[in-house]
Amino acid sequence: MPTVSLVSTKNDPKDHFECTIDKDQTLYDGLAKNGHLLPHGCLAGSCGSCKVEILAGAENLKSPGVIEKDTIKSILETCGTSPTYPIRLACRARVTGDVTLRVFECL
Ligand code: FES
Repeated sequence: MPTVSLVSTKNDPKDHFECTIDKDQTLYDGLAKNGHLLPHGCLAGSCGSCKVEILAGAENLKSPGVIEKDTIKSILETCGTSPTYPIRLACRARVTGDVTLRVFECL
């Protein structure tokens, strides 16, 4: 089973959360099943509330679909920033292997 590691946006080791989730589960569902709710809204890929940065293991997520790509493009245009790490929507990104992430916040 893939391991998902959630890193604090403030890099506080006490806030680090790690769990294993089922393969092909979304990041959001896998973390929620383990008692950790990410920020969210629609849970359908259109609001962008569940945006996360993939710090490691981006290759272990299935490719984003059209809805996810469009929403991420809109988020990045709104933020006016080029993120260092890939941005994904936790409610859409399905896991195939180990992933490390943190909640994405526009600076
Ligand atoms: S909760 Fe709305 S895009 Fe994920």
